[in-house]
Amino acid sequence: MSRTAGRQQPARRLPGYAEARRAAQYIVARGRLRPKVGIILGSGLGGVADRLRAAVIPYGAIPHFPRSTVRGHAGELHLGKWARTPVAILAGRLHLYEGYHPAEVVLPTRALALAGIEILIVTCAAGGIAAKAAPGSWMAFSDHLNFQSLNPLAGLEDERLGTRFVDLTRAYDPDLRALARRCAGRLGVRCSEGVYAALLGPSFETPAEIRALKRLGADAVGMSAVPEVIAARQLNLRVLALASITNRAAGLSRQPLSHEEVLAGGNEAARQLGRLLDDLLAELSGQWI
Ligand code: HPA
Repeated sequence: MSRTAGRQQPARRLPGYAEARRAAQYIVARGRLRPKVGIILGSGLGGVADRLRAAVIPYGAIPHFPRSTVRGHAGELHLGKWARTPVAILAGRLHLYEGYHPAEVVLPTRALALAGIEILIVTCAAGGIAAKAAPGSWMAFSDHLNFQSLNPLAGLEDERLGTRFVDLTRAYDPDLRALARRCAGRLGVRCSEGVYAALLGPSFETPAEIRALKRLGADAVGMSAVPEVIAARQLNLRVLALASITNRAAGLSRQPLSHEEVLAGGNEAARQLGRLLDDLLAELSGQWI
């Protein structure tokens, strides 16, 4: 047996407040602006960031930022003004299924909060379970079911990030949700609201899991969003989460599920999201100018 067999790996230092603060300082200095709204772009939605004439910073240049390893996620931070609102766009999300620790997944969210954002808009792709969650439509989260078996707040407490016992009763801001749905209505973009179930992935769900999720009250299912939302709520950000429904969930259609299918609808969904954000950010800009 080799001498190293059975030896424990040294514990990996997980990013916390100090790392998020260093990243935030770098972001504010590079962008020469304090973002007010942070936007996380989900699978296939990265093109939205191109609407913004902005400073583009690769994640690799930002202290402590991990790199995204998934196709359809660029790994760039875009900083600039959109509809007169200073925004920071994370084009490239990190997923738990890539093997990141939850503390790494939420590091960019915490960095944006410490850089000054007050609102976080989280977007993602999801499979539709409820009839209203039809492919090609959007769903604003009213609540979530966390079935990822992980929580970014587990571990050592650091009060500089807020309390560990975060109240998630109103995790999703009802006013932002109503505003998003009003904007969608004006633009002819279909947008329902409902409960998002987060699973770890990366395999898609089984039909039996989808039947179970349906009985438990899930309207759509995905593999992301929830860690960032929990971290954002700990730091008291107002949260809006929007899922682009890319497919019917497993067992609800004859179509086989694939990542290609999830990305395929991305262009049209990104175009819709761009128009939606034009409207939404213009409405929100009144709060800052
Ligand atoms: N399941 C989980 N995540 C997803 C799906 C799905 O059907 N579609 C897009 N993301």
